[in-house]
Amino acid sequence: MRYQGREVDIEGRVRLVMESALTARDRVGVQDFVLLENYNSEAAFIENLRRRFGENLVYTYIGSVLVSVNPYKDLEIYSKQQMERYRGVSFYEISPHIYAVSDNTYRAMRTERKDQCILISGESGAGKTEASKKILLYYAVTCPASDQMASLGDRLLQSTPVLEAFGNAKTLRNDNSSRFGKYMDVQFDFKGAPVGGHILNYLLEKSRVVHQNHGERNFHIFYQLLEGGEDDLLNSLGLDRHPQNYHYLVKGNCPRVSSINEKNNWKAVMKALPNIGFNEEEVQELLNIIASVLHLGNTQFGEGEEGETHITTETPIGNIARLLGVDGSALGEALTHKKLIAKEEEMISPLNFEQAGSARDALAKAVYGRTFTWLVEKINQSLALKDEIYHSYGSTVIGLLDIYGFEVLQHNSFEQFCINYCNEKLQQLFIELTLRSEQEEYETEGIAWETVQYFDNKIICDLIEEKHKGIISILNEECLRPGETGDVSFLEKLEDTLGGHAHFVTHKLANGKTRRVMSREEFRLLHYAGEVNYNVNGFLDKNNDLLNRNLKEVMCQSGNQILNHCFRREEVIDQKRTEMAATQFKNSLMKLMEILMSKEPSYVRCIKPNDAKQPGRFDEVLVRHQVKYLGLMENLRVRRAGFAYRRRFEAFLQRYKPLCPETWPNWHGRLVDGVSTLVNHLGYKPEEYKLGRSKIFIRFPKTLFNTEDLLEAKKPDIALSLQTSWRGYRERSKYQRIRRAVIVIQSGWRGMKARRRAKRRRQAADLIRRLIKGFIYRHEEYCPENEYFLDHIRYCFLKKLRKNLPKSVLDKSWPTPSPLLTEASEQLRRLNMQNMVMLYCWRIQPEWRKQLEQKVVASEIFKDEKDSYPPGVGRLFLDSRLEREQINLKVVQTLGNEKVQYGVPVTKYDRRGFKARPRQLLLTASFAVLVDRTKIKQKFDYTAMRGISLSSLSDGMFVLHMPSEDNKQKGDAVLHCDHVIELVTKLAMMAGRISHINISPGSIRFAVARGKEGIIDFVRGSELKVCKGKRGHLLVTSPQSSAT
Ligand SMILES: Nc1ncnc2c1ncn2[C@@H]1O[C@H](COP(=O)(O)OP(=O)(O)OP(=O)(O)O)[C@@H](O)[C@H]1O
Ligand SMILES: [Mg+2]
Repeated sequence: MRYQGREVDIEGRVRLVMESALTARDRVGVQDFVLLENYNSEAAFIENLRRRFGENLVYTYIGSVLVSVNPYKDLEIYSKQQMERYRGVSFYEISPHIYAVSDNTYRAMRTERKDQCILISGESGAGKTEASKKILLYYAVTCPASDQMASLGDRLLQSTPVLEAFGNAKTLRNDNSSRFGKYMDVQFDFKGAPVGGHILNYLLEKSRVVHQNHGERNFHIFYQLLEGGEDDLLNSLGLDRHPQNYHYLVKGNCPRVSSINEKNNWKAVMKALPNIGFNEEEVQELLNIIASVLHLGNTQFGEGEEGETHITTETPIGNIARLLGVDGSALGEALTHKKLIAKEEEMISPLNFEQAGSARDALAKAVYGRTFTWLVEKINQSLALKDEIYHSYGSTVIGLLDIYGFEVLQHNSFEQFCINYCNEKLQQLFIELTLRSEQEEYETEGIAWETVQYFDNKIICDLIEEKHKGIISILNEECLRPGETGDVSFLEKLEDTLGGHAHFVTHKLANGKTRRVMSREEFRLLHYAGEVNYNVNGFLDKNNDLLNRNLKEVMCQSGNQILNHCFRREEVIDQKRTEMAATQFKNSLMKLMEILMSKEPSYVRCIKPNDAKQPGRFDEVLVRHQVKYLGLMENLRVRRAGFAYRRRFEAFLQRYKPLCPETWPNWHGRLVDGVSTLVNHLGYKPEEYKLGRSKIFIRFPKTLFNTEDLLEAKKPDIALSLQTSWRGYRERSKYQRIRRAVIVIQSGWRGMKARRRAKRRRQAADLIRRLIKGFIYRHEEYCPENEYFLDHIRYCFLKKLRKNLPKSVLDKSWPTPSPLLTEASEQLRRLNMQNMVMLYCWRIQPEWRKQLEQKVVASEIFKDEKDSYPPGVGRLFLDSRLEREQINLKVVQTLGNEKVQYGVPVTKYDRRGFKARPRQLLLTASFAVLVDRTKIKQKFDYTAMRGISLSSLSDGMFVLHMPSEDNKQKGDAVLHCDHVIELVTKLAMMAGRISHINISPGSIRFAVARGKEGIIDFVRGSELKVCKGKRGHLLVTSPQSSAT
């Protein structure tokens, strides 16, 4: 999405153009001349330029050609943010800019993988070099950097100050005029990173080394060295700081230029040189050469009496000899003498004063010129693509051509001739390529093409370069022709050969009016851009570009490596002369044309608004002239011949689709149908537009403007609907995101669940299988087949057992085991019983234990013996049946230390009368006593006790047998107690007479005294009755099973 000129790419490829070149037209002129209503009017063209220039809008398009007017002031449109603004943005979507051209070229190179070139043209001072620097900077900043060549962008940029120091000079038109043509290739790898560079240089204006017009200067490097160089350096070079002390620097009488800061530039050059691969030695040698050129200029000659020439200044020669490592005297000799080889014989002839001066200047020019070429080579080595693999990866190239513009000076010489010839060639290329591409476009789109009348400058190019008949051929011929030749004879030859040519005039051939503005030494060429008079003086020399043989020899012997490289020994040995300057230039131009033809061109046409280098001044006459010779009107006409405006269907539909309900918000059919629906809806008339194969062509700007106005009016609605759809889209995306996440979680969860279920099933099937197998093998020994089954059976049984263990010792229940486990079950049962018993025992309280012990004893004594035992066994035995208070204190005192451990009320029957008397029976640790209230009636020592007798019935009668022989004893005691079981048990235990308990079924005998005995008979009855029976026996009737 584009918002306020920034590109915001959002999902769904919603792309809207808010700012456009077309809407800006309302502000200042038109951004594209193609949209000028009156496109045939030069005045309208210039007015548009002027209006925009007035608003600091220095860039305007003619289709894809950028017209740039030099603002002569720093505009804030070259920042990094601006670069970002233009990055990846379509050409027409944003205001015209050099960055738009740079970016468009770069993208075309990347997408089409085709080499590109940007041709920058315009007259001196129009801003060509600045434009090329801005393009380079744009690439250095915005292109991705490759790893290996990270510093290449830097080196490309750093090469500029060096080349400018050696190749630029202050001229009347431009304080930093490039005095050589430059074509630079920037090579990009497949990822779009700059990986290499190469520079081609064209025709350095060498004559500037020895001569400058008034108000002009020599190349910057001389002034930079003198002003910026440190004292030590200057001393070592034999120089002082004042430019006026050097003949080669004073010709223009302009040593200083206010707009140039020599010191800073010097620093920049010295910093750049090492960065672009110069070592210290090379820098020193380079400076030695620069200094030597100055010394050479100061070398003066004198004329002897016999007309011989000699050097009058020794110091400069000495300095040169020292700095360049040449033989000083040989140099002196070579400067004043000429060596000729005729018929293989060497002849030395002295030079006259003038010839010596020319020889010196020729040497200075040659040394400087060749050093400059070496410098470019050296920079090329530094920029060269080192890594061969890039070649195979199909790297692509963007070429930048910054070449001298068409030049018309007061006096035009050989250099201007070459420069203007070069411009003719470029114009030819421009016409050829723009026309061709325009025509090609109409053809590919299937649109009928109307031919445009334009001036084809081929005729002038032929006039200059044609073999045998062209000016260059004639010049070369004249240079080579033996005999008396000169510039004048060259002019005559031109008149002879070219007389009558529509574009060639001389003083002799001209009509009266022209004659008045031409000198006899001039010829005039009617260039496409205007008429130029060339003065033939110096043409031959400059074309010959000769350097005396002996001077070459001296230079060959130089100890300076750079010169060694520049002046090859073969050149001296080889008799064949090198090609003439014009031919060399022509050939290099041919090569350049080939290079440019092989690439897709983009054009930057620079215009200089005034001659005074002033900001804000727009000189209409000057601009009109440039518009004319840059062929801009023709360019516009060609562009407008068919249709003023063209756009790819998708771009057109994208921009204007809101204007038609059928195409808004999206057109889903074929693009051409969409565009057709749209224009029908807009009411375009058939003559207003044409649909090509991929583009719509609109004939009149008005049609487009109307459409644009409609769009402008529609924008608030669009913004609203965009807002709505954007919000909807955002919410939808959010919802979709959440939905997707939910689905992911759901499917993950379901997957996990299914996996678990499958696993469980698998395990279950496995289990069942193992169980079945185990069941089959259950009677076998424990083996892998049945181990699980058996274990399972065990496990199940144990589990069942755990739940159903007997609750108490008396609980005899036990789960039924599988037949396989009968034995184990039985063992477990036993163990469990033992365990329960043990636990039961542990848990018994001491009192209860005592109780149990007594019960056990009671059981031993009475079980199955006495009828009253079974019903009474469950009842607790008490510690005593008498409360403490019930025992008389006196009795207690009488007992002394013996503590009463058990007391119970009893009935005593007299042995004779059987009278019943209530008594208490108290048991101590060693005896029992029978107490009648306060009195102890009878004492029964346990040791003496013979036994205890009871009946087997349920009565409470019992007899304590005491020894009868003991007089102290009154005989056996016949007693009755309601708690006879409890009492007898305790007594037996205390007395240790358990085994002396006698239980008789029918009757008991007891001793009365001294051998007499009584008998107690027991019978069963309904209730207890004790009475005297027959024969003096005591008869006891026992109730049936009553608890006693
Ligand atoms: N875009 C620009 N912004 C600001 N100043 C500019 C711009 N372009 C050019 N200039 C100014 O104009 C001067 C001349 O520009 P430049 O050196 O690029 O001209 P040129 O076309 O290369 O001339 P020549 O043919 O003599 O080399 C610059 O030194 C600079 O001061
Ligand atoms: Mg320049």
